Amino acid sequence: MSNSLFRKKSIAKIVKDAEQGFGDGHDAGGLHKILTVRDLTFMGIAAVVGAGIFSTIGTAAFNGGPGISLLFIITAVTCGFSALCYAEFASRVPIAGSAYTYAYVSFGELIAWIIGWALILEYAIGNIVVAISWSGYFNNLLMGLGVHLPGWLLNDPSTAFKNFTNATAELASGKTLTDDARQMFQGYISTWNSAPIVAGKHFFINLPAFIIVVLITTLAYIGIKESKKTTNFMVIFKILVIIFVIILGFFYVKPANWHPFLPNGFGGVLAGVSAVFYAYIGFDAISTTAEECRNPQRDLPRGMIYSLIICTILYILIALVLTGMVNYSELKVPDPLAYVFHKIDQKWISYIISISAVVATTSVMLVFQVGQPRIWMSMSRDGLLPKRFSEVHKKYKTPSYATIITGIVVGVPTLFMPMDMMTDLTSIGTLFAFVLVSAGVLLLPKNENRHGGFRLPYINGRFIVPILFIVFIYLMKDRIVTSAQNLGKDSLQEVLFLVYMLIGVILSSLTFIRSYSMIPILGVLSCAYLLIEIPAISWVWFFVWMAVGLVIYFFYGYRKSRLAAQQGNLKI
Ligand code: ALA
Repeated sequence: MSNSLFRKKSIAKIVKDAEQGFGDGHDAGGLHKILTVRDLTFMGIAAVVGAGIFSTIGTAAFNGGPGISLLFIITAVTCGFSALCYAEFASRVPIAGSAYTYAYVSFGELIAWIIGWALILEYAIGNIVVAISWSGYFNNLLMGLGVHLPGWLLNDPSTAFKNFTNATAELASGKTLTDDARQMFQGYISTWNSAPIVAGKHFFINLPAFIIVVLITTLAYIGIKESKKTTNFMVIFKILVIIFVIILGFFYVKPANWHPFLPNGFGGVLAGVSAVFYAYIGFDAISTTAEECRNPQRDLPRGMIYSLIICTILYILIALVLTGMVNYSELKVPDPLAYVFHKIDQKWISYIISISAVVATTSVMLVFQVGQPRIWMSMSRDGLLPKRFSEVHKKYKTPSYATIITGIVVGVPTLFMPMDMMTDLTSIGTLFAFVLVSAGVLLLPKNENRHGGFRLPYINGRFIVPILFIVFIYLMKDRIVTSAQNLGKDSLQEVLFLVYMLIGVILSSLTFIRSYSMIPILGVLSCAYLLIEIPAISWVWFFVWMAVGLVIYFFYGYRKSRLAAQQGNLKI
């Protein structure tokens, strides 16, 4: 059985399968090949700049202070290693499945399935977060126009209940509250009390989040050309607003706000790992459109790298402006960019930022909503999901059935689910894929004769990797001791950290012995480090998610795998 679990596809076979489709009438030919390097760069930026920079970084800046800009640099370098590895794969395997397909080539079927399953966290669960964040910004815009939707149409039940109980407790506590805070708490209570009662319970749904998912899914269904045009327009708009915000913001920076640079030490900065990483997620999503590119081998790597570089520069500047305009301790708000301009009485700019946040999150949703069905399409072609998932629409040339299922999987939960923890799960799923893509590069055949396309430069990691890891051990020496002492005290976080150190020692030693290439090894080590910094409670949910995925694989994919049928090795 173990051999069949790790059965691999050759690159030549994957390319041939994709060109042929099923050949049994299920397929309406290939996808439209229209994307250029400019479109791909725009799509990368479209997927990256969204809820992260407009929303989740507020809390990260509150915890880390101005030093959060360092985390933007560290995370960019980490993503950079993975982006180069993605680029190498995209150049060798120009097929729609992204990390899923890459893992099929390098690690075999089981790991490919695991990655495909983890990518659902990145794209589908990630889009639930984005849709909920979109709904918040959209409601701000409506309120600015004097339109007030009833509160029970804007919230999920659990958040509404949490707000209600908190507000009741705060108002009853006798604390001195500011007028704004009192008004906000009273608002939460009246929202709860005015909700309709259905089956004896207060009824709440997040209707705008659901509606935007339906609209975006329709666009993704209708065509890649329409999606591309819309994306390009949205990217230009949001980038112009961000550049404007950066330039104007610098005039209002008070350098005194940058001192102290690390108010809560480096630990405070690291508390923002998940939020900052979330802000970078998305450049990899363009690899799902490989079959719609004119020249995927050349353009996909460029698109990913260009979009990452552009976003990194913008993010570092934004982090400096944000923490320079106000004291970091004020930034624990859901809309930090709009907040800082509101604070300096530039309300119109704050309004433009809210419009831009709505546009930015819409574009992220569009790229993810385009990406998810293409991964399912690849999994279905391989027999790991039912055939319908790889149906291509006769007229629109999009994976129609998979697109509708994506709409349902994302849309329905947005009605009822809270946002907490979804961000962490998205980051875990994505980092997990990054680790495996980076490691997978090491397993690719070396002496292939390739013309054109991108090649990952080989830099011998023999000395650099062990030296860097020794420096890391030195910097972490106190934590290693505390983690070892706290082992057994119900602390999954410490266990994760120690497992990471062990993996680090093993990989550094192997790199020394086998002269592994530096970039993929640093990609694995840096992404794995960000992974273990994500709160352990989210890991528990991640393990549950993975367990469900494995059950599905063994009951369906393992038996129906096309590769198994072709190799005739389906023995259990
Ligand atoms: N990077 C994307 C965002 O921030 C997921 O919305």
